[in-house]
Amino acid sequence: MGAPSSLNAVHRPLVFSLNGQRVELSSVDPSTTLLSYIRSETRFRGPKRGCGEGGCGACLVMLAKYNPKTKEVKESSVNSCLVMLCSIDGCAITTTEGLGNQRDGFHAIQKRLSAFHGSQCGFCTPGMTMAIYGHLKHEQQHQQKETAENGNCTNGAVAKPCSGPTSQEMERAIQGNICRCTGYRPILDVCKSFASDVDLEDLGLNTCWADKAEAKEEKLPLYDPKGDPTFPKFLIDELEARKGIQENGHARTLREEDGESLKARFTHVDSNMEGEKMRAWVSPKSLDELSAALKQLKGRKDRVKLVVGNTSSGLYKEIATIDVFVDISQIPELLTVNKNSRSLEVGAATRISELMDYLVDFRNKDGTGNVVAEGLVDHAKKLAGGHVRNWGSVGGNLVMAQKFAFESDLATILLGAGALVKVVTLTEGSEPSVAEMPLDDFLAKGTLNEDGLLQSVYIPLISDSKTDSKIVFKSYRGAPRPYGNAVSYGNAAFLANVSRNEKDETVIESVRLAFGAFGTNHAIRAFKVEELLKGKALSLSLIKESVALLKKEVVPLEGTSKKDYRVSLLVGFIFDFLNSLLSKEPTVTPTNLFPHTGKQNITIADDNYPLSQPTAKFLSQQQASGEATYCDDIPSPPRCLYAAFVLSTEPHARIKGIDATAALESVGAVDFVSLNDIPKGGGNKGIFNAFDHSEETLFAEDIVGYVGQPLGVMVADTYDHARLAAGRVCVDYDTHSVGAPVMNCHDALAQGSTLPTYPPSPLSVKHPIGNVEKALAEAEFNLEGTVSTKSQNHFYMETQTSLAIPDEDECITIYTACQGVDPVQQSVAKCLNLPLNNVRIITRRLGGGFGGKATRNIQISTAVALAAYKLRRPVRISLDRNTDMQMVGGRNPTETSYRVSFTKSGKITALKADILLESGWYADVTNFLPLLMSGTLKKYNWGTFDVKYTICKTNNVPKTSVRGPGHCEASAIADAVMNHVASYLGISGNKVRDENLHTPESFQLFQGEGSGDVGFTLPAIWERAKALSKLEEREKQIETFNEQSKWLKRGISIVPSVYGVSSYPMTATVSIFKDGSIVVEVGGVEMGQGLYTKVRQAVAFSLRSLWNKGKDVDMVSKIRVLQQDSFSLPNTFADGGSTTSESSCAAASQACEVLVQRLQPVKEKLAKDKGGEVTWADLCMTAKNSFVDLQSHVLWVPPSGKYILFGAGVSEVEINVMSGETRILSSDLVYDAGKSMNAAVDVGQIEGAFVMGIGYYLTEDIERDSKGKLLSDGTWTYKPPTIDTIPQKFNIELFNSPIHKDRIFSSKAVGEPPLLLAGSVYAAIHNAIAAARKDYLGPKAVHDTFEFSPPATMMKVKALCGLDNVERYIESALQATKVPHGKLL
Ligand SMILES: Cc1cc2nc3c(=O)[nH]c(=O)nc-3n(C[C@H](O)[C@H](O)[C@H](O)COP(=O)(O)OP(=O)(O)OC[C@H]3O[C@@H](n4cnc5c(N)ncnc54)[C@H](O)[C@@H]3O)c2cc1C
Ligand code: FES
Ligand code: FES
Repeated sequence: MGAPSSLNAVHRPLVFSLNGQRVELSSVDPSTTLLSYIRSETRFRGPKRGCGEGGCGACLVMLAKYNPKTKEVKESSVNSCLVMLCSIDGCAITTTEGLGNQRDGFHAIQKRLSAFHGSQCGFCTPGMTMAIYGHLKHEQQHQQKETAENGNCTNGAVAKPCSGPTSQEMERAIQGNICRCTGYRPILDVCKSFASDVDLEDLGLNTCWADKAEAKEEKLPLYDPKGDPTFPKFLIDELEARKGIQENGHARTLREEDGESLKARFTHVDSNMEGEKMRAWVSPKSLDELSAALKQLKGRKDRVKLVVGNTSSGLYKEIATIDVFVDISQIPELLTVNKNSRSLEVGAATRISELMDYLVDFRNKDGTGNVVAEGLVDHAKKLAGGHVRNWGSVGGNLVMAQKFAFESDLATILLGAGALVKVVTLTEGSEPSVAEMPLDDFLAKGTLNEDGLLQSVYIPLISDSKTDSKIVFKSYRGAPRPYGNAVSYGNAAFLANVSRNEKDETVIESVRLAFGAFGTNHAIRAFKVEELLKGKALSLSLIKESVALLKKEVVPLEGTSKKDYRVSLLVGFIFDFLNSLLSKEPTVTPTNLFPHTGKQNITIADDNYPLSQPTAKFLSQQQASGEATYCDDIPSPPRCLYAAFVLSTEPHARIKGIDATAALESVGAVDFVSLNDIPKGGGNKGIFNAFDHSEETLFAEDIVGYVGQPLGVMVADTYDHARLAAGRVCVDYDTHSVGAPVMNCHDALAQGSTLPTYPPSPLSVKHPIGNVEKALAEAEFNLEGTVSTKSQNHFYMETQTSLAIPDEDECITIYTACQGVDPVQQSVAKCLNLPLNNVRIITRRLGGGFGGKATRNIQISTAVALAAYKLRRPVRISLDRNTDMQMVGGRNPTETSYRVSFTKSGKITALKADILLESGWYADVTNFLPLLMSGTLKKYNWGTFDVKYTICKTNNVPKTSVRGPGHCEASAIADAVMNHVASYLGISGNKVRDENLHTPESFQLFQGEGSGDVGFTLPAIWERAKALSKLEEREKQIETFNEQSKWLKRGISIVPSVYGVSSYPMTATVSIFKDGSIVVEVGGVEMGQGLYTKVRQAVAFSLRSLWNKGKDVDMVSKIRVLQQDSFSLPNTFADGGSTTSESSCAAASQACEVLVQRLQPVKEKLAKDKGGEVTWADLCMTAKNSFVDLQSHVLWVPPSGKYILFGAGVSEVEINVMSGETRILSSDLVYDAGKSMNAAVDVGQIEGAFVMGIGYYLTEDIERDSKGKLLSDGTWTYKPPTIDTIPQKFNIELFNSPIHKDRIFSSKAVGEPPLLLAGSVYAAIHNAIAAARKDYLGPKAVHDTFEFSPPATMMKVKALCGLDNVERYIESALQATKVPHGKLL
């Protein structure tokens, strides 16, 4: 296709500022996003690509606009992955580096994130910094405006007091951000540290003050807004000058010269073998210009997209396919805002947050308050995240709803409010025609035609009238996350005008009932129900009729998922609304989760100073300022190429052929690298299994075994081109000759598709405990049950990434984000047929690993190594979020059937379990899991016990280790059995757990030899957790609450964690320089767990006899821990199993001992020669000059490998029986970290692991299609916890078990085990459901056992509480004789 001749580029370059510097670009590819530009063309790496979908906030930047007319600057945080570069003309962009950095000084937010321990792996931290900054700026702008309008700060009834944001408001700053490491609590503390109403004593552990008594504002890193970046003067001058030109008519002249043609602002030509293709960016400044542009484009084959914010590209990933972008964000008619006392007209290009500001304004100015404005703002706060709302437009949202059946909230609430829209048709040759229509008609009309444009929306703003009738406006949404970044399963908005009649009944004068997102093409009104209600006195029987009618009106489309649940959700909405009118009080008011609170009870001993000090994480300020370098931040070397995987689309098939011809003709394509490119002598080696030494292929050979299996990599000049080309590789499959795929454990079992365990007979199979069969036969009670656990994705914020650089003498260097360089080195060497000393692997830090980069990274790194080797050029890869989730299998799903016997009091006498573990196509680490699972499964005293494991090989992506592998699943199974027994007996699950908690003797029996040596602290921890949480007292309170509350039920539960770990050998090198600075290399990788921080403390401590131990000497700051490099520290071990931090500390410490031995005599001699104190610097200089070797390397071998960790967690939850939503009201965790090496790091690990566990038990639902393709492969469909899914009160206590000679510095591991304590949330939900079912089932609830497998999604909870619980309740209430007018009691 040739270039459209009329769209010749206008020559004014794109001008904007980036961190205060002027950027002028005369040539821009219109499809470039701001994030791609910043990351590939500038030195700034603060904005990260976590998802590319607007769903994680890692890419946030500040975008400031100057308005030459009003002279105002408006600043807001935006997702740079969605913002198009061409749309920022004249804007000032600030990344986190621009706020503060190491050279110029860090910003207060960056300092506080470090001081409050709010950064672990740090990948999300630049985004968190910008989110908090954006919120502060928004509040400041708001206050300035108010002060300008209302004079100085007043506490008047109308104006908001100029007191700054509240804690609640500040917490919402990070509503659109995901952090996979911290569990959010410390980041929320940073948010609150800027709030006006915060009590600083309530903030958590930090380095600003040692104890609460010192908590003073002046101790916090100072924040002075005057030091914040300002809008650059040069840009103001330029924008003023442009305004002048426009006013003098120069801009128009430009068009006139050109006759009818509208010039494109920017064009870009791509050439490939198919010819030339041009992309263009057009920026019409009026409807006329737009009309002219559309006219030119009409009839051509170009794909045209009107854009305002382009945020829709987060969901509809079509940018790469668009030829012409028409930016309609500057057309004055689309930016109008007209207010009168009853309505607000907003242009379609108005950003959603601007609309919210207008509505707040409107509400504040209307003395009586405005019900509709208030309702709209409250609902909009839950729409997307604040950053998406800052850039996404009102019109864009409504058009998405209309054109693409998007599950819009805005469409539904505006429909409920009775909005009108103005649509313009840009008819050729005549004036644009404008039509006003109700939103209902607009939505129902179907796709806007090519010439159609949504111009504006009229929002009727109805105040509560002062007459006899009353206006009520209420909206609802049921979504996996209550406060944002999750589209809903159903939403609704209701507007009613009600009055009281002479009988004091509620009369519905008129009503609008809008419903959306339930599996409909667009939001609709329930006209029949409206008609039914109109003019009637409300009664329970009328509500019943309404519900019945509604169910006929809101019918989800064929193919909608979770249909029944969605309908029941809508039923709940209408019931809640009408019932609240009837009874004059809200039907359901779930507990408000904001602001969150948290306490950390820790004891810090100074004996081992600087060990045990809760110091800030090493380089955490640089993480916040974006200066910490992750693998994909390394600048591309010259002539670097980019790779994308070609993946199998069939689960089980023979590969008949792979044809890359079309792909190679694609723009920028360079080569297709496949099996055929493996050099002679090399092997098709992908992943190496460290346990049984089996190997996975790099690329599928003859047969593909799962959807997502790599077949090769496409290499091109950019990532985008590589992905585009990879999608064009044609693979011919034969699905008939290989047999049907095996898609689940049961099929695998039936077909004998199993794998051996490792070691071949796990101990538990060989040695059942006691005579299980006899105990089962003689039992008072006997139950059979099943429980299934699903997979969980790692969702590390940094996706898999590698950069391979060929070097001289057939050497290759690979920078990658892996959890162990050694296995990567081995696989690459085998694949390329190179000796290990030709393959250098370097890993500096990971943006999270959680097990996903232990084995699966090997395949990714080996593939780019092969490509780089073949092409003799650097090749890099960074998986997009969707590919990462498709390729990297998560946690192992399990299917368990069991028999359990017990007494009346809940004492269990036998457990016999049959566990099927799904491995996927390869074993990865699955064959090792039974060994891990058994210890945790035996966390309770089952009396007698036996378990059988079967590893099921299926045609799904291979599963791999995910934080707490095996342990997590085993813990869930054990607690499911406990819940089962408790609900059968109708007694508290807490009591059953109490009955079956191990004694020292039973623990020894169950866990085998040696377990008694470790300090069995579980009983003490258990009692402490009960006392800390006031468990008994709260159980009673909850009982009373549940008796009185119909629609909200609560549950509280305590669970223990028992987790065996093993320490592995570790290497370390410590090198001291003559100036006293030190570098340390250890075999562990820093992935957020604070390993480097602890190593620095351990080294400082271990050298204590050589320096003046005391708080006045900051030895730790002299120590740098280096990246892992397979050449300088060879033969290391993969990082995992929670013990790497302590092994690394032990190895480094042992290396220090050698140095101490060498340096002690030097010190003594120096002291003798010079007299007095010997400074550390003098000592090092003298040693160097005396030829003392200042480098020491050791291989540390643990004295005793294994030990067991204990913890207990108590959680209270509240479930909404109408919607199935769960809120976690509190969690109190007690965890034995031994003598913690750094309590701040350990508390952070506990909180983070627990919240990841909440994801496993509550929100993270993996769904696959029939071929095993992952459906939940991104932020739209997969929901790791955010701030609204963590406990409202989140308390941690470190249990300091005594000194132990075999523990490293008497500390204990923390990385994974606390995840298991999230079982307390799951068990608490079980209890709450049981309470709801008592109401639902009535007398039938006796011995009510129900299968309840995690995750406890809304759908599952609601289904267990009865999808028809509303209807049943109405029915039973109607039958009750004492109900006046059917009024609910
Ligand atoms: C992560 C994320 C979460 C979200 N969550 C929610 C949510 O919970 N609830 C919800 O309601 N929404 C949600 N949204 C949707 C969000 O509100 C929209 O993406 C946004 O409002 C679209 O505005 P835009 O200016 O970016 O549109 P664009 O992306 O620029 O355009 C969207 C579409 O509309 C067309 N278009 C835009 N303006 C006009 C016009 N005036 N006339 C004709 N066509 C036009 C464009 O051609 C395009 O097809 C979410 C979005 C993201 C990215
Ligand atoms: S990368 Fe932009 S929001 Fe995730
Ligand atoms: S620190 Fe937030 S994702 Fe790692």
